[in-house]
Amino acid sequence: MVELADTLVSGISESNLVGVRLPPSAFFVSQRSTGQRVNGSVVNEKIKSMNKKGRVAILLSGRGSNFEAIYQSSLKEDANFEIAVVISDKEDARGLERAREVSLPSFFVSPKELKPKEVYEQRIVAILQEHHVGLVCLAGYMRIVGQQLLDAYKGRIMNIHPALLPSFTGLHAQQQALDYGVKVSGCTVHFVDPGVDTGPIILQAAVAVQDNDTEETLSNRILKKEHHIYSRAITLFFENRLKIAGRKVIIAP
Ligand code: GRF
Repeated sequence: MVELADTLVSGISESNLVGVRLPPSAFFVSQRSTGQRVNGSVVNEKIKSMNKKGRVAILLSGRGSNFEAIYQSSLKEDANFEIAVVISDKEDARGLERAREVSLPSFFVSPKELKPKEVYEQRIVAILQEHHVGLVCLAGYMRIVGQQLLDAYKGRIMNIHPALLPSFTGLHAQQQALDYGVKVSGCTVHFVDPGVDTGPIILQAAVAVQDNDTEETLSNRILKKEHHIYSRAITLFFENRLKIAGRKVIIAP
C-alpha cells in the first residue's frame, strides 16, 4: 500500500495507466519484464510497483530456514509474492519466533487443543482465508496434510523434501540416501496430495554425495539448494506457469 500511495503521489494517475494499453495479463507479465513491454521506464517502474503480489502462507514446525529464504526472496524488488501469514503447530518453533521478529502475521495453532484433526485444520483454513492466501508452502511442517486443508487449497499446497523423490520419502531422507549408498541426492519441491511426499514434482536440484558425508554435511549442502528452488517454484506458481497434468507438472515457457 505504501508503494501504491507513493506512486499516486509522484504523478502517475490511473488514466496514465489506461493510456499505455496493457493487455489484461500485463500486471503479471511486467513482473518478469525488463522494461521493454511498456514505453518509458518510469511508467514501467510505477506499474511494477502497483502489481498485486501473490500471497503465500508458510506452515512450519521448526527452525524455519526455508521460511527465511522464502522471506528474503519476497523482499527483493522484483518478487512477485509476499508472505501473508506464518502458522506453526509448535509453540516454540524458531521459525515462528523469527516471523514475529520481522512482524509478519503469525499464529501458533495447537493440534493438541484442537481435536480431532478436522477441527485443527478448519482453524488453519480459517486463518488462511482471513489472510487471502493464494499458495500454502509447507516448510519443515511435520504433519501429514488432511482432507480439510487439501480440499480448501487443492493444487495450491507445496512442500519441500530433502531427497530426489520418489526416492527416500518420509523422515531422515538424507540418512536414508547415505545408507542406500547413492552417489547423487538432492531436493524436490512438489505439490501436496494425500500421500507422504508423493505429489506431482515441480522442481528438483541434485547434490553429489561424497564418500565422507555425514547426515549433517549432506543435509547442509542439500539445504542450500532447497533455499534456492523453493522460491523459484513459488515465483513460477504466481507467474501462472505451473500446470498439473496427472503426475506431471508442466512448466510453461
Ligand atoms: C528441510 O530439510 C525440508 O526439506 C524438510 O524439513 C526441513 C526443514 O528445515 N521438509 P527448515 O525448518 O526449513 O530449516
